[in-house]
Amino acid sequence: MNIAVLTGGGDCPGLNAVIRAIVKSARTNHNWDVVGIEEGYEGLRTPVKTRPMTEANIQGILPMGGTILWATSGKSPDKVQKSVEAVNPENKKSLAEEVKENVRKLDLSCLVAMGGDGTMNIAHGLHKAGIPIIGIPKTIDNDILSTDLTFGFQTAVNTATDALDKLHTTAASHHRVIVVEVMGRYAGWIALEAGIAGGADVILIPEIPFQIDKVCKAIISRYDRGRRFSIVVVAEGALPAGGEMSVLKHSDSGTVERLGGIGNKVGEEIAACTGMDVRVTVLGHLQRGGSPTPYDRILATRFGVAAVDLIAQLKFGEMVCLKGNEIQSVPLEDVVHALKVVPPDGPLVRVAESVGISVGR
Ligand code: F6P
Repeated sequence: MNIAVLTGGGDCPGLNAVIRAIVKSARTNHNWDVVGIEEGYEGLRTPVKTRPMTEANIQGILPMGGTILWATSGKSPDKVQKSVEAVNPENKKSLAEEVKENVRKLDLSCLVAMGGDGTMNIAHGLHKAGIPIIGIPKTIDNDILSTDLTFGFQTAVNTATDALDKLHTTAASHHRVIVVEVMGRYAGWIALEAGIAGGADVILIPEIPFQIDKVCKAIISRYDRGRRFSIVVVAEGALPAGGEMSVLKHSDSGTVERLGGIGNKVGEEIAACTGMDVRVTVLGHLQRGGSPTPYDRILATRFGVAAVDLIAQLKFGEMVCLKGNEIQSVPLEDVVHALKVVPPDGPLVRVAESVGISVGR
């Protein structure tokens, strides 16, 4: 067999670990060839952008952040494919048509696409168009259905927790409120887990629209108990009750909307209602960069090996996933209809509230 691997959407710690696992297990267990597709699905447009994936060119990539095959997000709108119907303005062909043609020309037996919900959506569309494909869930947001975890998430939580630990000491020294805006798009997993791990006093997530008076009350009550500083973690998708998400850039025909700015808004409101000195830190892309944690390296490696196993069984149109501690797979069609978000009354929110963290309700 001749299999191709691509990394769709933005980068995420652990992508290189998956690439390495696929190349190694395809060669060790089956003696198959692996081709790397550069810049996600874009590399399967004409002219194709491919590179042979040999043992030599995966050397040393296990601990590396980013993706050696390069990412697509942030491209000019006409180059970003949001669906298999997206037409290439140069030759008027849809993504599905072009990919099908190039898969045949390159004599590929199967594609392995790593990515988030957008990448899985396209993978599903390509599968329906008759292209053998396997999905691997990646995103720091951990918002893909049917898998307990995506790789990259734990690394992002580590980075955010480390930042909270550091911000604690400066907040305490100055008797300040420090608001920390974290990523996660429409899901509050990073905020919730990093907030619990980093001992936050308030955690605001998109799934629980917040009331600012409740947030201020929690901070003032801490102050009255002699805790003259507070750490407030705000997911970039958090929104006030009855209000809207804070959008930096609205989506257009080819790009997704960019969230951001809620940290500053919350900071201003806290300063106004508590009279305290407030500072805001936006962690941004720090959470996406850097070396994957050992857990993410192992999860990424397990996913890569599982994808190769699925190809050996000719089980296409599936996404590998983690259930409990077991690697399984689910049909792509089961994962593309919604995002996995934090249940507002689920166990993790209950844990947060039980240890005195306000979620702004
Ligand atoms: O989906 C991963 C993610 O990092 C989100 O948490 C964030 O909203 C978005 O990507 C940022 O995207 P970009 O790198 O295009 O600004």
